[in-house]
Amino acid sequence: MKDSFDRTIDYVRIAVTDRCNLRCFYCMPAEGIPYEPKAHLLSYEEITRLLKVLGELGFRKVRFTGGEPFLRKDFMQLLENTAQLGDYKSIHITSNGTLLQRHIPRLKELGITKINLSIDSLNKERFHKITRRDDFEKVMQTFHMLIDHGFQIKLNAVIMKGINTQDIIPLAELAKNHPVDVRFIEEMPFNGGYKENLEMYSARDIHADLKAQYPNLARLPSAHGDTASLLSVPGYKGNIGVIAAFSRTFCNTCNRLRISSKGDIKSCLYDDGVFNIRDFMRSGVSDIELAAKFREIVRLKPKDGFEAEKMRKAPAAAMQSMSSIGG
Ligand code: GTP
Ligand code: 5AD
Ligand code: SF4
Repeated sequence: MKDSFDRTIDYVRIAVTDRCNLRCFYCMPAEGIPYEPKAHLLSYEEITRLLKVLGELGFRKVRFTGGEPFLRKDFMQLLENTAQLGDYKSIHITSNGTLLQRHIPRLKELGITKINLSIDSLNKERFHKITRRDDFEKVMQTFHMLIDHGFQIKLNAVIMKGINTQDIIPLAELAKNHPVDVRFIEEMPFNGGYKENLEMYSARDIHADLKAQYPNLARLPSAHGDTASLLSVPGYKGNIGVIAAFSRTFCNTCNRLRISSKGDIKSCLYDDGVFNIRDFMRSGVSDIELAAKFREIVRLKPKDGFEAEKMRKAPAAAMQSMSSIGG
């Protein structure tokens, strides 16, 4: 499906839960966020129906996020249903890596091998400081197990001034011996009101650190809709990426829609939710009406994250937690 800026929109990100077992401080306050009751969540039947309609509209990539998607009961069942739809040439998951180890064999059987893992530090104490939980060893073990089983892994690290800039090079070094994309992300203000002012460590700062360490750093061409500007160090098995999530330099090739766990559609990460598809579905609409609604939403997708922000009704201080948006 094309939007009004001639961008092909064929990637949907679905948050299956707003719950998380970590408490990353760039995402939510220590006490967590008020979670939605189960009845407010899209059911697996509803998600599968949405995916079927979107598949018919030409969507070919789906990412399941959260909160932590493996916290939702029977998440594997939803993955199986999605794999059976057959429309999606790739099914992706973004996870914090704490709960997925026991699902590795089944994920492999289903051919779901593209997983993005959040790891913000290779130092146990800093990992604890950022996530407010003690899961560093578990997450690293998961990372190595996934690599050993041939999964295609991207690591996501949110880089924050005064917190973990010293982790940039050690994390990048993981790409030396592992076929992994190590991606550094600018912090965004989606933290459920926990922090008002961000002290930006920008994509440009991250690039400068990488360039100082790796003078031969080369730029790679980006794939369709890629958020990361991709770099490679000669001789390294994996690549390095920088995601200008706050500077928003990649909006001109945006290819995505987001659906939150309670069915709020965001046609841009920076809008405050343009339509609730759960209530629309529960009012008894047909698949044809659902498809027409998606066409309308895609047509109205804003040009970029700055325009979306201008259109927000809620003040910036009311920025939701990434855990309820779905990353
Ligand atoms: P790939 O599909 O593997 O390229 O990953 P992705 O970047 O689409 O997804 P992932 O869930 O790994 O997100 C990585 C970072 O990019 C997170 O911090 C996201 O919030 C951010 N991100 C993803 N999509 C968007 C977007 O549309 N706009 C902005 N500004 N940031 C985004
Ligand atoms: N700014 C930037 N990235 C964030 N993420 C969560 N909260 C934020 C934020 N405030 C990242 C997580 C995860 C991805 C889905 O979004 O680290 O990797
Ligand atoms: Fe959980 Fe992800 Fe938010 Fe961290 S960023 S608290 S792992 S949802």
